[in-house]
Amino acid sequence: MKTTDAKPRLERFAAHERLIHWMTAISFVYTGLSGTALWSRRMWWTAAVLGGGETVRAWHPIGGMIFALLLALMFRNWAKQMRLDADDRKWLLVSHKYAVHEEEGLPESGRFNAGQKMLFWLQSSSALVLFLSGAVLWFPELMPRGLRLAAVLVHPLAAVASLGGIIVHIYMSTLVVPGALRAMLRGWVRPAWAASHHAKWYREITRS
Ligand code: HEM
Repeated sequence: MKTTDAKPRLERFAAHERLIHWMTAISFVYTGLSGTALWSRRMWWTAAVLGGGETVRAWHPIGGMIFALLLALMFRNWAKQMRLDADDRKWLLVSHKYAVHEEEGLPESGRFNAGQKMLFWLQSSSALVLFLSGAVLWFPELMPRGLRLAAVLVHPLAAVASLGGIIVHIYMSTLVVPGALRAMLRGWVRPAWAASHHAKWYREITRS
């Protein structure tokens, strides 16, 4: 536990975890916006903002590859800690209590709660689908017709799933859980925050 100022701090996210997270977020926003420009004519204005139709067509797949690579690094950092345990499965069954801030009967969480773990698996699986179907759409002339048609269908579906998850993620981590954003920006939390949001993790890291 660091005690550099009057109040103690606990490290929640190391610098490399934060760097990878924010680079993933930036690549996600670029790829998402350029993708909507390619998806619908109504979103032409996003193409205009991002340098025009041809630029967007050329850079969207590159942005997608960068996003997939960064997400793979995030996966390497966190996959082990994102496995659901017995408490997480119970947590999911009573997750409506979490939604209304009712702590009683809600199993304690480790470093990540079961909702955060589900977001991680949703993002990881949709990124894999986006990567594979995106590769097919990038080089359509090399692909059989059936695969091209499947990719045209699956690519936007995975994008919508991923985007839906991220909207919930941004809402939860910036508005619903005060202190979470500071943890991802500056790396630390107060012990009381850790004990109330992630009790099992708190005990684990403060056990001497
Ligand atoms: C673009 C705006 C984004 C904001 C404001 C944001 C914010 C945050 C914050 C504050 C945390 C820490 C939560 C905690 O302390 O437990 C976090 C964690 C995390 N973020 Fe983001 N994030 C964004 C985008 C993304 C994107 C694009 C991805 C992946 C595609 C992502 C994946 C994750 C994951 C897997 C975690 C750890 C589990 C969790 O806390 O949900 N984030 N994010």
